[in-house]
Amino acid sequence: MMGQQGINHVLAVHIRTYGCQMNVRDSEAIGALLVRQGYRLTEREDEADVILINTCSVRGKAEDKAVGKLRLMGVEKRERPHLIVGAVGCMVQRIGREALKRIDGLDFAVGTHRLSALPAVIEAIRAGRGPIVDVGEEETEPEALAGHLSGQVLAFVNILLGCDRHCAYCIVPTVRGREWSRPAESIMREIGALAGDGVKEVTLLGQSVMSYGRANVVYPEAHVSRHGFMEALPRLLEEVSGVPGIQRVRFTSGHPSGCTEELARAMGELKGVCDHLHLPVQSGSDRILKAMRRGYTAETYLAAVARLRASVPSLALTSDVIVGFPGETEADFEQTRLLMDAAGFDNAYIFKYSPREGTPAASMVDDVTPDEKMRRNHVLLEDQDRRGLDLNRVLVGKVVEVLTEGPSLRNQDRWAGRTTTSKITIFEPRAAIKAGDTVKVLVERVGPQTLYGSVVGEDGI
Ligand code: SAH
Ligand code: SF4
Ligand code: F3S
Repeated sequence: MMGQQGINHVLAVHIRTYGCQMNVRDSEAIGALLVRQGYRLTEREDEADVILINTCSVRGKAEDKAVGKLRLMGVEKRERPHLIVGAVGCMVQRIGREALKRIDGLDFAVGTHRLSALPAVIEAIRAGRGPIVDVGEEETEPEALAGHLSGQVLAFVNILLGCDRHCAYCIVPTVRGREWSRPAESIMREIGALAGDGVKEVTLLGQSVMSYGRANVVYPEAHVSRHGFMEALPRLLEEVSGVPGIQRVRFTSGHPSGCTEELARAMGELKGVCDHLHLPVQSGSDRILKAMRRGYTAETYLAAVARLRASVPSLALTSDVIVGFPGETEADFEQTRLLMDAAGFDNAYIFKYSPREGTPAASMVDDVTPDEKMRRNHVLLEDQDRRGLDLNRVLVGKVVEVLTEGPSLRNQDRWAGRTTTSKITIFEPRAAIKAGDTVKVLVERVGPQTLYGSVVGEDGI
C-alpha cells in the first residue's frame, strides 16, 4: 500500500483536533485505526505526508479556526505537492461539499459518521481519485473505532453517540445525529483492553451522558446489580469501577434531569467513581432557560445539585455558561451570577452566544451586542476566579491524592496530575515517580484552578 514514496517509506499522519472531548476521542480512534493500517503518527506538521484536521462546529469561531488552519495547509501544498490534506468531523458533517469550495487544496472531507472509511479514502486520494467528500448518515462500523493508542494513563470511552436534546442554540444534534447508546458489553470489552494496557482512569463520554440506555437497549435483561442499581448508567459505573486496574471513573457531560437518586447513590458508594461532575447550566434565568429549551429551571437545577451533594459531600462541580443568548437582559444575567454562586462551581467555561444556522435560536434576534457579550463574559470569569480561589484555599495544608499524568506543560521540571475532584495539581517530582502512579501531595499554595504542593507519600504510604 505504500507506493509512491518507495516501499520503505511509512506514511506519517499528523492529526490536529479542535472541539470537545468527543473530537479528542475520535482523533485518537482514527489515529489507532491508521496505525493498524501501517501508517505512523507524528506530532510534526513539517514531516507529515497526511494532515488531518478534526473540526468543531459549535460556535462560529471554532469553525473559523479550523478553516484558517486548513487554508494554510492548502497553501503549504504548493511547496509539498505530495502532501494530502483532509478535514474530518463536525464542520464537515455540517457543510459537506461546501468544504471543497471554502478550502483550496482540500483533498478530502469526511463527516462524523464515516470516520472508519478514512483508510480507504486516503488510499483513493493517493491513487489519484480525489477530491472525496463523504458525509453519509449511515454509521460505518462503530466498532472499528474502538481502538486506542497505547501507553496512556487516562482514556476516553464513548458510551453514548449523538444527542436528542435539541437545545435551541446547539448544532451538535445536527452534526452528531440521533442518540445511540453502545451496548454495555462492548464498552466493557474496550475498557478491559484499556486496563490490560495500563490505563488507570477512564472518562465515559456522551453529549448528554445521563441519557445512556434511554433510546436503545444496552443490557439484554433487566437486573438489579450488586449495589441494587437498575438504571443503565449506575449499573455501568458499578461494572467499570470493578475492572481490576481501573482506579478512577468519570463521566461527562451531565444534565440535571439525569441526576437521579440512584445516580447520586452510585457516585457516593462506588469508590472508583470520581467526586466531580461537569453539569452545564447555561443560564440562571428561568426565562432564558426556557427559550434555550434546556428542560429545567434554576430551582430544579439546584435541587439536582443538592441531591448529588447529599450523597457526595466533597463533590466538585464544573459547568458551562452561555452569555448573550437572544433576549438576555441585565436582570437575566444577574440571575446567572446568583445561580453560579448558589451552585458553588469549582470551575466554569463561559461562552459568548454564537448563532448556528438551522438551529431554532438562529431565527431569534441576536440582540446582545458583541461588546456587551464580552463584558458579561469578563464579569463571569472574574466571579469564577474569586469563587475558585475561595474553594481551593480551604485545601491549603491538606493532603490530596493525585493520579500523576507526567511533566507539567508549562514547566517540565514539575509534574502534574489531578485529584478525584479534577483539580490540576502541580508538584516537584521525586526520582521514582512515573506517570500513572498515585501520590499524596501536601497542598502548599493554590490558584483559582490549580493546586501546588509537594509529594509526601506514594500509593498506600
Ligand atoms: N453536550 C454538552 C455540550 C456540548 S457543547 C452538554 O450539553 O453539556 C459545549 C458547550 O458549548 C455547551 O455546554 C454550551 O455552553 C456551548 N455552546 C453550545 N452551542 C453554543 C452556541 N451556539 N453559542 C455559544 N456557546 C455554545
Ligand atoms: Fe447541545 Fe444540548 Fe445536546 Fe448538549 S444537550 S449537545 S447543549 S443539544
Ligand atoms: Fe464541537 Fe462537535 Fe464537540 S461541534 S463541541 S466537536 S460534538
